[in-house]
Amino acid sequence: MKAIEIRNKYLNFFKKHNHTIIPSAPLIPENDPSVLFTTAGMQPLVPYLLGEKHPAGNRLTDYQKCLRTVDIDEVGDNRHLTYFEMLGNWSLGDYFKEESIKMSFEFLTKELGIPVEKLSVTCFAGDEDCPRDTVAADTWKKVGIPEDHIYYYGKKDNWWIAGEEGPCGPDTEMFYDTGKQPCGPNCEPSCDCGKYVEIWNNVFMEYFKDKNGYTKLKQRNVDTGLGLERMTMLLQGKETPFDTELFLPVMQKLQELQKIDSIKSRRIIAEHLRSSMMIIADGGRPSNIDRGYVLRRLIRRMIRHMNKLQIDLSEISTLIDINVENLKEMYPELEKNKNDIKNVILEEKDKFVKTLAHGEREFNKEMQKAKNEGKEQIDGKVVFKLYDTYGFPPEVTQELAEENGMTIDMKEFKDLYKQHQEKSRIGSEQKFKGGLADQNEKTIAYHTATHLLHQALRTILGDHVKQSGSNITEERLRFDFTHPQKMTKEEIQKVEDLVNEEIQKDLPVKCEEMSYEEAKKSGAIGLFTDKYGDRVKVYTIGDFSKEICGGPHVTHTGNMGRFKIKKEESSSSGVRRIKAILIKDEQK
Ligand code: ALA
Repeated sequence: MKAIEIRNKYLNFFKKHNHTIIPSAPLIPENDPSVLFTTAGMQPLVPYLLGEKHPAGNRLTDYQKCLRTVDIDEVGDNRHLTYFEMLGNWSLGDYFKEESIKMSFEFLTKELGIPVEKLSVTCFAGDEDCPRDTVAADTWKKVGIPEDHIYYYGKKDNWWIAGEEGPCGPDTEMFYDTGKQPCGPNCEPSCDCGKYVEIWNNVFMEYFKDKNGYTKLKQRNVDTGLGLERMTMLLQGKETPFDTELFLPVMQKLQELQKIDSIKSRRIIAEHLRSSMMIIADGGRPSNIDRGYVLRRLIRRMIRHMNKLQIDLSEISTLIDINVENLKEMYPELEKNKNDIKNVILEEKDKFVKTLAHGEREFNKEMQKAKNEGKEQIDGKVVFKLYDTYGFPPEVTQELAEENGMTIDMKEFKDLYKQHQEKSRIGSEQKFKGGLADQNEKTIAYHTATHLLHQALRTILGDHVKQSGSNITEERLRFDFTHPQKMTKEEIQKVEDLVNEEIQKDLPVKCEEMSYEEAKKSGAIGLFTDKYGDRVKVYTIGDFSKEICGGPHVTHTGNMGRFKIKKEESSSSGVRRIKAILIKDEQK
């Protein structure tokens, strides 16, 4: 069974059981700056797990695009991935353990046709916070799992929470027996030898954890997650996800292109390429911080491994084409954003290539020096210099060191990096203060002009335009947005004209408060920086622009002045920057 068939079967099965199919949230959380990427299906649903009404009802199902970076350095072995797809179903205060387990069992055995004897399950053993989950275990017995395939484990294995605080609870996990020989007399699902593979996790979320401990939630929820790549691999009897149709076309092409053979490098290239493409399709761009840095790391590591296999870097474009073709049915956004994806990755490649040779030379020099001094470790100072001057993510330096039988002083690097960040934080706080210090008539008008500009850019250039930064002074506005190439003179003129037309219409500016979901549904654009669950303000300018924003804004556009774009330039890869002014006293 192909991955897409498993996905469709899953969604249809839960639809049949009265669940509403909801769309995958973007990989980049729209309104949660506290996490870099969506890491689980429940993440965009937290407000609803806490009790808010979901507009689509209290039984939901979806596929969710996820990215986890914890195992990034493990990618290259036979199982770790950064990007993966999680199939999930939720009960928001509706059904609980029994119904959830019955549906999972039916789906696994009837829809996917997995023989019962291949399944083992684990349940929560109980502790001072929460009793032993005999309800789950009894239900498993009732549906037909033999008693000796049911295991009880403690919090480490059978309790689920995203991070340190939040909704959580005991879970029951389902395991698939690959048929491999047990690694010893105590081989169990909790064991890491590869005989048992976890396929599905049903979390019975009825607790909330914070600094003070556990309390009961308002409602009892079910949150489940099934990893699509893994299920695909198992059902196809394959050893790794790289042997399934999700990766095969790229893996085969890499084999064709390579001059040096390394399965590990091929996997790293294929995996990091897919993840990078998914991130870029959802608006991510490489940079030196946070999300951007993860993307940069993925692209640069991919390039290093292409170099290792002596594959010409111009082939990146071919590899992207292959992935788009192969994955577009599952992810139409890849085809839609193909040009963006290519531009961003190729530009990042150019940047990296420029410094790579120098950096490697520098690394070799430093390594020799360290060796001559009898050291087995490269100083953190050197790692920082390679990072700061040559754009080497420390992980790349670490890999280079390991290839040469050495290690790096990561701790010293991190200390230096922190000092460096602290300096730039102080700098940006000062800038921020400056920006907010005085909201006067001029800055307020620039604020409204920014909304008009944002919408005008989307009208003229397309909906791929998304705000990635904004800065306002009394003298001008500065607006950064995603767009792959330089704007033409005509485009700039059109955008300017459109903004001026809307200003002249003297449009009323209206502010409404609503829930984040309502705002999104109403088609409002904007930076979703508020925590989810919060109410947001939506500013509407006539019927031209609708944007989530804290304000303040002018009440009517008429008196803002004439809008003029002074400069359009590159800000970073795939991001353009416009500086514009409002000319107030001109005679019309
Ligand atoms: N949220 C649960 C998980 O990620 C289902 O495993």
